[in-house]
Amino acid sequence: MLRIFLLLIFALSFSNSTKSHAEELTSQRQAALIHMLKHDCGSCHGLTMKGGLGPPLTPDALAGKDMDILSDTVFYGLPERAMPPWEGMLSREEIVWLIKQLKKGIPQ
Ligand code: HEC
Repeated sequence: MLRIFLLLIFALSFSNSTKSHAEELTSQRQAALIHMLKHDCGSCHGLTMKGGLGPPLTPDALAGKDMDILSDTVFYGLPERAMPPWEGMLSREEIVWLIKQLKKGIPQ
């Protein structure tokens, strides 16, 4: 019985890992996203993400901030506060990936 249970867990974790692998962004898309981050997001948040019209998006500034709230901000924007929505241009998955890069610190 236990063996069947363990097998099931193994099968489930295996199918999950192959799924997330298939959803990974291609390195080409990742490079395009980093370029966009510096040039489009950077026009307000600063080329080095240290802030400008928009607040800094450095690892320090984002430390402890909730991923869901941050990704909602990028997805829907804050129209009354000059942060444009990126819905339609970026997928949820791409936004989460970008925020993870920002939290780690993007290479300059
Ligand atoms: C036109 C200027 C502008 C552009 C372009 C812009 N932002 Fe913003 N962004 C803002 C402003 C202003 C705020 C702060 C809004 C507020 O809370 O008052 C903000 C807030 C944010 C926040 C929330 C920060 C926090 O500490 O809560 C994130 C994350 C963010 N922007 C990411 C991005 C990303 C990623 C891009 C590019 C895809 C981008 N922004 C492009 C102006 C901009």
